[in-house]
Amino acid sequence: MKNIILTGDRPSGKLHIGHYVGSLKRRVELQNSGKFDEIYVMVADAQALTDNFDNPEKVRANITEVALDYLACGIDPKKSTIFVQSHVEQLTELTFYYMNLVTLSRLERNPTVKTELKQKNFETSIPMGFLTYPVSQTADITAFKATTVPVGEDQLPMLEQAREIVRSFNGLYGETLVEPKAVLPENKSCLRLPGTDGMAKMSKSLGNCIYLSDSADEIKRKVMGMYTDPNHIKVTDPGNTSNNPTFIYLDAFSTDEHFKTYLPEYANLDELKAHYERGGLGDMKVKKLLNAVMQETLEPIRLRREELAKDLDAVWDMLYQGSEKARAVAAQTLSEVKKAMRIDYFADRK
Ligand code: TRP
Repeated sequence: MKNIILTGDRPSGKLHIGHYVGSLKRRVELQNSGKFDEIYVMVADAQALTDNFDNPEKVRANITEVALDYLACGIDPKKSTIFVQSHVEQLTELTFYYMNLVTLSRLERNPTVKTELKQKNFETSIPMGFLTYPVSQTADITAFKATTVPVGEDQLPMLEQAREIVRSFNGLYGETLVEPKAVLPENKSCLRLPGTDGMAKMSKSLGNCIYLSDSADEIKRKVMGMYTDPNHIKVTDPGNTSNNPTFIYLDAFSTDEHFKTYLPEYANLDELKAHYERGGLGDMKVKKLLNAVMQETLEPIRLRREELAKDLDAVWDMLYQGSEKARAVAAQTLSEVKKAMRIDYFADRK
């Protein structure tokens, strides 16, 4: 069996450092590992429309933003097929057949969907499209026979749903679809990076994100304004590093090399943490280090992004090529699905 990756993001905003450590960085490593036969990275515009149907312009504008973020991080169109979801209309057709295999109560139990419904105040009148997006996500994954889906932790319920649909489809109609598995970041701090304000998740509406496209000044301003341990008032006070976003970011981003370069009095992050916990280490020093680490990490991404953003036409071209390729693959799977279901009535009349 081939090793195939499919993953993607909703183009509802630019991507931030939570996306980067939660999934993007891993994708690039997997892409370059040479262990995968095919890699698909999807800009999930149709899914973004399920909660932005009143603002298609916003989704449109963010397609190239997300594509630029991908390219800037090192997703390489020569190795990975980057495509736009809505161009692959076979995905919609697959979704329609898969919907028969899922109950309404199952969809309502999806913990990620539940949280999103609360955030969006959709609880009292839930749009059908939004509630069924996990089914459409199953279509995205299975259309490419993906075995591996590198995603953030919040996507685990989607993968569970996909596996259930695959089992149910194969049980009813015969072995056709492939059961995917999720790949999460190994570093626990990367699973869910908190916002700069200490809130559990980075979100555009909370204004607590550091974007991959942020300027050096913006990064510095955001890092210097970060929430830390509210009980660490005087420098001499013992501090908490585990609920402290500055230390969580350092967990996610810093290496021993960074310590050698920027803060050689400490061999590594463990030593810095021990000092903070003992008392006697000020937040300013921690933030200065974090700023240096973030600047070093994000500068090459930002510069590449700025370069690529000069030619958006080339980005749309790349997306078009990728989308055409993806469409051919999805069409093949759709025809296998219809054959398995014995609804390929006109197959011998072609
Ligand atoms: N749900 C993902 C997000 O919120 C986007 C997505 C759509 C996706 N289809 C997918 C991710 C299939 C992985 C696999 O960003």
